[in-house]
Amino acid sequence: MIEIKHLKKSFGAHHVLKDVNLNIEEGKVTTILGGSGSGKSTLIKCMMRLQNATSGEILLNGRDITKEQNPMRLAALRRHFGYLFQEGALFDSMTVGENVAFGLKYLTDTPQEKYPAIIKEKLAMVGLKAHVADLNPSELSGGMRKRVSLARVLAINPKCILYDEPTTGLDPIMSDIISDLILEMKKKLGVTSVVITHDMHSAFKISDYIAFLYEGKIMLYGTPEEFRKTDNPYVRQFVDGSSQGPIQMKLMKD
Ligand SMILES: Nc1ncnc2c1ncn2[C@@H]1O[C@H](COP(=O)(O)OP(=O)(O)O)[C@@H](O)[C@H]1O
Ligand SMILES: [Mg+2]
Repeated sequence: MIEIKHLKKSFGAHHVLKDVNLNIEEGKVTTILGGSGSGKSTLIKCMMRLQNATSGEILLNGRDITKEQNPMRLAALRRHFGYLFQEGALFDSMTVGENVAFGLKYLTDTPQEKYPAIIKEKLAMVGLKAHVADLNPSELSGGMRKRVSLARVLAINPKCILYDEPTTGLDPIMSDIISDLILEMKKKLGVTSVVITHDMHSAFKISDYIAFLYEGKIMLYGTPEEFRKTDNPYVRQFVDGSSQGPIQMKLMKD
């Protein structure tokens, strides 16, 4: 569905993505693993054209989206994707229902009288009751906020959902519930999922394929089984969560 070829992205002299090559398969869950600051969010932002790649290609059903200039086609392309922001990013000045309807208003021409039914349907899909629509985001727990964010993404019926660290900041049980929800969306809706995480438990549970991003390149791509068995020392260290190994973490900014 999505083919990423020789993707480069630099911020000034800071070369974040150096040569990323990755295929995202339709209807599957592909997880992107990598340390903080390795460029995971940058990669999915390039996929949605929230950021422009420096060079390389991103083919969506054979069309290179990095070169698209036409605003109409660019909008259509973005509608293809639902992006679950790392921060959850609900609007605290709006009710939950208004949050869920946000994309409908700006990205689709759905008539307003249809919003309540869609809000109810999408909240139900993520396991929330209809009355939650009248609450304010500030009244919700972290896990519920993630669910509402997902309901907002689902409202526009995306073909591909990009989840940016969906379990970060949640307790282990809630993380597992969110992992189950990602799998449920895949099964029920047949969506293609790209999940950024450094939660290994979640990665092993949900992934069809895992891609390990290191030093601006995909160092290893394979099934969870292949990741469990790998003897690549960099991947091993990450998977095992060890301070000992070839990956040197910078503890202080230089
Ligand atoms: N808009 C930006 N301008 C300048 N530098 C950025 C910008 N976005 C990200 N970066 C830098 O790119 C690197 C990768 O960031 P990011 O993709 O957010 O990493 P990750 O999601 O893997 O933690 C970081 O060093 C970050 O500071
Ligand atoms: Mg990030």
